[in-house]
Amino acid sequence: MSGLSIVAGSANPALARAVAAELGVPPGQSDLDRFPDGEVRPTVRQVRGEDVYVVQPTGPPVNDNLVELLLLVDACRRCGAGRVTAVVPYFGYARQDRRSQEGQALGARVAVQAVAAAGADRLLVVDPHNVALEAMAAGPVDMVTAVPVLAAALSSAIANDGVLVAPDLGAAKLAERYAARLGRPVAVVRKSRTSATSVRAEELVGEVQGRRAVVVDDMISTGGTIEAAVRALVARGAVPEAVVATHGPLVAGAAERLAGLGVRVVVTDSTGAAPAPPALEVCSIAPLLAAAITRLHGNRSLDELLIGA
Ligand code: R5P
Repeated sequence: MSGLSIVAGSANPALARAVAAELGVPPGQSDLDRFPDGEVRPTVRQVRGEDVYVVQPTGPPVNDNLVELLLLVDACRRCGAGRVTAVVPYFGYARQDRRSQEGQALGARVAVQAVAAAGADRLLVVDPHNVALEAMAAGPVDMVTAVPVLAAALSSAIANDGVLVAPDLGAAKLAERYAARLGRPVAVVRKSRTSATSVRAEELVGEVQGRRAVVVDDMISTGGTIEAAVRALVARGAVPEAVVATHGPLVAGAAERLAGLGVRVVVTDSTGAAPAPPALEVCSIAPLLAAAITRLHGNRSLDELLIGA
């Protein structure tokens, strides 16, 4: 595709290569130096005049990956790129979309504005924690969804008596999107977070007794939210079959916690961070990103790729 360049950051080069292969373009060159004090210094090549897509999710290590993204965007800009799009399938800091107590920062707004401040013309993300990310950004944000990809992976497995379960109120809308595709009802867990690593399922709204349940979330980090939801389902007589999330950074023992639940776990390759536990099923979002990039490059609408209402 003429005039289109993919620049791969170090966060998920396998995904960047897969996107480039889908597009039929060579994966762009970038090198990463690291100073002894921890500073990163990326270098990009051959982007002058190009429509550049910098593929760099900001999963763990979140701060390193975010700074590398900002420097890559700046480097492309200074190298004379014609247009720069930050492709950040997993957008770290998106969960800090509100201040839960006085004295905190609005991390999502700071992170998303930093991408535009570094020189990105637009930002492409996949199923961000909160669609309000777009309203926090200084520039345009395109939010595409992996729900069709993940729902397709589930469709042969979801039972006639299946129910989609949101593990917290924030995931209710997401569960509705799965439910609309799979033709199943929704139940919602009311969760309270007792610390960054610990949550409690307070209540479960919806009919789950005797049903096979699939828990859906935007991301699995420590796995605490999923574990609490699965245990609440079992306590109410449901049969948890699978958990599905767009993003699986899987930190702090999440893999072991999920393995202990004895359910299918399906995520995408958006973060590239965690060594996948053997039982993890990974669906690639490379075709989704390639489709979005093809349309952006051709100045065409993203239409049905977007999260929508
Ligand atoms: C929070 O509202 C998110 O949607 C996820 O439920 C949460 O971030 C998952 O984190 P963890 O796996 O650590 O419970």
